[in-house]
Amino acid sequence: MVIAGNWKMNNTREESKKLIKELIPLAKDVNCKVVICVPYTSLETAIELTKGTNIEVGAQNCHFKDSGAYTGEISAKMLKELGVKYVILGHSERRQYFNETDLTVNRRVHAALREGLIPIICVGESLKEREDGIMNEVISIQVSSAYTGIRAEQAKDTVIAYEPVWAIGTGKTATDEQAEEVCALIRRVMKDHYGDVANDIPIQYGGSMNAANAAGLLAKPNIDGGLIGGASLKAKDFAVILNAAG
Ligand code: 13P
Repeated sequence: MVIAGNWKMNNTREESKKLIKELIPLAKDVNCKVVICVPYTSLETAIELTKGTNIEVGAQNCHFKDSGAYTGEISAKMLKELGVKYVILGHSERRQYFNETDLTVNRRVHAALREGLIPIICVGESLKEREDGIMNEVISIQVSSAYTGIRAEQAKDTVIAYEPVWAIGTGKTATDEQAEEVCALIRRVMKDHYGDVANDIPIQYGGSMNAANAAGLLAKPNIDGGLIGGASLKAKDFAVILNAAG
């Protein structure tokens, strides 16, 4: 199980310090992998504070080039140098607000893997796509596109997060069955591409996952973890989810 907190654009460096210090003792005995994906400005602080603990640090995006004239961007190489382990790619907020496309997600996946970062690749349908009955096609295309040109031995070092757009930050969680249905579909798509390697690739659910609903979702056979937004900003709530995974 991999439980990752996606802090999004929250927490100054001082606020990050406080939250991480609260989280370390609460997380230390859990049986899942624990990742916190913090804003760029808190990465160095998070890496320092979590040294020697079971908490690993992730970023929330990376550019696909190593360096160059891309004002405002951060490369996978820069993240690697800091000691970052994971990077969220293709989050629906980036697709929605920052023109992220399946093509650019794929390029970022290549860049992350080149540097030995573990990408957490986000896919998910909108409410309209679900209601229009094209959810399976949307998810299959997002997954297949993200992995274009990625070999099986690289794919095994990736994580997929199924995050239905309508469930993100809305308090509306997918039911355990809805989440499992799509995670099982993702597993089938990955099996078509990579055979048994697909069984070793963690598939997370994300979207209003919280202390109350985590256990049910994480009990499903094709849900191997969670990508947690709002509830990862409170150490105690996040700890309940970590324990539910353990
Ligand atoms: P919430 O848990 O706040 O709904 O956010 C989910 C998410 O987008 C994690 O990446």
